[in-house]
Amino acid sequence: MDLEQISRNIFKKRSIDELLKTSDRSELKKTLNVFDLIIIGIGAVVGTGIFTIIGTAITGSVESTGAGPAIIISMVLAAIACVFSALCYSEIAAMIPVAGSAYTYTYATMGEFMAWMVGWILMLEYAIGNITVASAWTGYFIQFLKGFRQYLPDFIVNFPIWLRYDYKTMSAICTNNGWDIHDKIPYIFGHIPVCVNIPAVVIVLVLTLLLIRGIKESTRVASIMVGVNMFMILSFILVGSFYVKPDNWTPFFPQDPSGIIMGAFLIFFAYIGFDAISTTAEETENPQRDLPVAILGTLVICTVLYVCVALVLTGIVPISDIDIQAPIAHAMSYIGKDWFAGLISIGALCALTSVLLIYQLGTTRILYAISRDRFLPRSWRLIHKKYKTPHVMTWISGLVVIVCGLFMDLNISAALCNFGTFTSFVIICLAVLILRKTEPDRKRPFKVPFCPWFPIAGIVICSILIFFSMKTLKTSSSYFVLWLVAGLLIYVFYGYHQKRIGERGRVIKHG
Ligand code: ALA
Repeated sequence: MDLEQISRNIFKKRSIDELLKTSDRSELKKTLNVFDLIIIGIGAVVGTGIFTIIGTAITGSVESTGAGPAIIISMVLAAIACVFSALCYSEIAAMIPVAGSAYTYTYATMGEFMAWMVGWILMLEYAIGNITVASAWTGYFIQFLKGFRQYLPDFIVNFPIWLRYDYKTMSAICTNNGWDIHDKIPYIFGHIPVCVNIPAVVIVLVLTLLLIRGIKESTRVASIMVGVNMFMILSFILVGSFYVKPDNWTPFFPQDPSGIIMGAFLIFFAYIGFDAISTTAEETENPQRDLPVAILGTLVICTVLYVCVALVLTGIVPISDIDIQAPIAHAMSYIGKDWFAGLISIGALCALTSVLLIYQLGTTRILYAISRDRFLPRSWRLIHKKYKTPHVMTWISGLVVIVCGLFMDLNISAALCNFGTFTSFVIICLAVLILRKTEPDRKRPFKVPFCPWFPIAGIVICSILIFFSMKTLKTSSSYFVLWLVAGLLIYVFYGYHQKRIGERGRVIKHG
């Protein structure tokens, strides 16, 4: 094989004009306005991070130290890491409003191989991230059922424990409670344990069907859920603020200052999602104007809300009493407002459902772009005749989340998602720097201020957070490396050849 040709192929870029032409020919409907985009943004951002992971970020875990009340500093750090990348996303998304997000931008700047790897890494953010959200969904669903135990039949409230969790979580629960797992779950043929997270499977199935119905219908559902969860978060801040005891904020800093950095890494999960806005660029009515406004607007709204939630939470519950499964709902029970804790569970369920919905949407749109570039089979991107949505891809991404969700642990999938997202942020900042050099005259409806310093700051902060947490979170970082190696092997043995077959097909057709 000709090495020179191979290296030409793997660094081959797609021209921006060609990308824009593909987008103009897109079969996807252009129906989204700035309001829809902000709904998609808040819907994708506010979820597991603020409703669940905040607990571990404050208290710490076996592998990491907690930030304590200084979680507020961690939040600001995470937000700063996001702002630089958000500005870079805005510049590129407005300049190249094409489906595929970071994947597409990398193709235009760093060539085929890097684009494939970024697409693969984005699957960590979207599909693996959704496994975390689906698991957390079950946790709040159980809380919700408990809250309404007076009105619901017992067989629903206390449905079997082996239909609630994956095997790993179930083992941890049994160990913590001193139970023998063999007494708690059934076995097929006496050997194969049956332990499945049924609520997560059901919710992902329902959302997959909704997404096949259409993007407009999906964002309508998301907007209702975003409304409910915003209302609950604001009520939490308002009601909770009357019960804040400033004494709980001392000591403010954790004994080990690394807790603040680990807190920033963990709570970063709560910010992930604003980039999902750019995955819908091809379905936006006026992408140049609306994408930057929506991306930055989402980030500002969420940062303000998160800092307020963290202040209230650490102000009413002493650090040692913070619950890590459902910290926000538990805070309300802590001040004796059980009914309010039940309502918070409804808000949390809405938040998690909208994150699931939007992440499934993002996964399919990125896979759509990868498949359109001929790395994946053509049949994957078939568009539904009636609903005009990529239904095959939607099913594939739904099934991936369902199957992986059956055996993956929530904390590991969250850390993997963070590693993937930080990496894609670094690449986006790099892409801005490259495009400023290679395409200096192209129209930029939005420009990152203080370039190159802001993109460089984004690269430095995200890289520090990745390397620091890789040293601490040993299990997830080894999975992250495995994921990268798997992506490389799939490219070498499949994607590269599939792409060449696609190119030859195109030459024959046009030639
Ligand atoms: N930011 C999203 C969440 O917290 C991923 O669930």
